Parts: sequence; structure tokens; C-alpha cells
Amino acid sequence: MSAGGCAGHAGHADPAGRTGAGPVGSDPAAPTVRRMRWWDVPALLPLERASFGTDAWTEAGFWSELAGWPETRHYVVAEVPPGEPGEPGGSSGPREGGGPGAVVHGFGGLLVAADEATVQTLAVDPAWRGCGLGRLLLEDLLAEAGHRGAASVWLEVRADNAAALGLYDRFGFERAGVRRGYYAQGRVDAVVMRRRVRVPAGPGARVRDAGVAP
Ligand SMILES: CC(C)(COP(=O)(O)OP(=O)(O)OC[C@H]1O[C@@H](n2cnc3c(N)ncnc32)[C@H](O)[C@@H]1OP(=O)(O)O)[C@@H](O)C(=O)NCCC(=O)NCCS
Repeated sequence: MSAGGCAGHAGHADPAGRTGAGPVGSDPAAPTVRRMRWWDVPALLPLERASFGTDAWTEAGFWSELAGWPETRHYVVAEVPPGEPGEPGGSSGPREGGGPGAVVHGFGGLLVAADEATVQTLAVDPAWRGCGLGRLLLEDLLAEAGHRGAASVWLEVRADNAAALGLYDRFGFERAGVRRGYYAQGRVDAVVMRRRVRVPAGPGARVRDAGVAP
């Protein structure tokens, strides 16, 4: 995690039209989304714990999920180039993606089975929340669900998680039910949400905007 953040930065990236890894628009300093690899996992664990507390996944949990790539799983990370506020331009950069020194500040994962998809996880470094990374990651997951032919995307979210509920509301997820006391931490309800994936217009048509927030 970083002690930095996007204060002083342009703020929200403009993810319009984005459907996968690569720079957002033409801005080389913009956050990027790329496939999560096994060597990303150790660096993600502090972010995971900061985001989910005692419900956090272990390293083995991530590896188990990544083992499902590409058959049933799609996992991505969001990274920020060096030189951005909060990024000193460290030398421990990734082996692919946003260039030397880019640092991962968020991740998301999707399960796709038959014509249904589930958002398995989504988290952003606390120091980088409110900067548009969650939106960027969710757009990627929704676009992937569309590309894989899912008709609906499901997820569960803590009923007291205002930020996540705000994000999912913004993306057009609708409440489909409640699981009482689902989360052991605090015995908090889970809100079950669903979003339909736009059906292609005809044979061979591409799902072009499955992930774009309304
Ligand atoms: C939920 C989470 C992923 C959002 O990531 P983020 O990068 O901060 O979100 P973004 O900056 O991309 O914001 C996108 C939209 O989400 C909504 N949102 C974000 N933070 C919000 C908040 N604190 N309150 C209400 N809505 C919020 C807004 O609609 C926002 O769009 P807007 O700023 O244009 O209005 C992040 O708060 C997080 O990691 N939380 C901890 C882990 C978690 O709860 N994951 C979800 C599990 S189901």
C-alpha cells in the first residue's frame, strides 16, 4: 500500500470506452488495469487485510482463485505509474503492465459459470480510494463478463459498506435479496445485487459497453 493517494492528481481517470488492460485514453500517466499474476499476490495481501479485516483471503485463497484462470476466473490489478503523487518511483516494478516502477493499488476478480458471472472481490488501497480505481476495475470485470457471454453479474456486499453500495448503484446493480447476518465480522447482512449484461444486438455483435456506468 502507499501512503500517497490521488490528492493533487487529476482525480478520476476517464474510463469511458475502456474494456480491458492498457492505458486509459492517451494519458501515459493514467492508471492501468492488467491481468493479476501469482507474483502480485504477496503485495496484495496488506491491501486485502486493510480492506476486509478478519474476512480477508489468505495467500492460498488468491492462488486457488488464480488457478481458475482462464476457464472460470478473471482477475485484474490496477496500477499507477511512478511519478504520480504518492509514488516515489520505486524500483520494484511489475514484470508487465504499467511500466517500470508502477505500483498496484487495487484489484478485482470475476467468476463466470455458464451465463452467470459473480464479482468475487474488489478492493482499492485505502490511500487511493476516491480516485477512480474502483470504477476502472469494475468496468473491466463487467466488460469481461460481457465478452464471456454472461447474461447477469451478481455480487454480495456488506449492508454497512456505503462506498461499495454507492459504486454498485452507480453501475446499475439492483438489490436482489438479503442474507441475514451473512458476515461473521459484526454479524452484518449481505445485500445480494444483480446487474444484467447488455445483450449483443445480433449474431457476431460485440458487447461494447457492458461495463460503462450509466
Ligand atoms: C468500494 C471501493 C472498491 C471503491 O473504490 P474507489 O476506487 O474508492 O471508487 P471510485 O473512486 O472509483 O468511485 C466510483 C464510484 O463509487 C461510488 N463511491 C466511491 N466511494 C464512495 C463513498 N465513500 N460513498 C459513496 N459512494 C462512493 C461513487 O458513485 C463513485 O463515483 P463518483 O465519485 O463519480 O460519484 C473501495 O472503497 C474499497 O476498496 N473498499 C474496501 C473493499 C470493499 O468494500 N470492496 C467491495 C466488496 S463488495
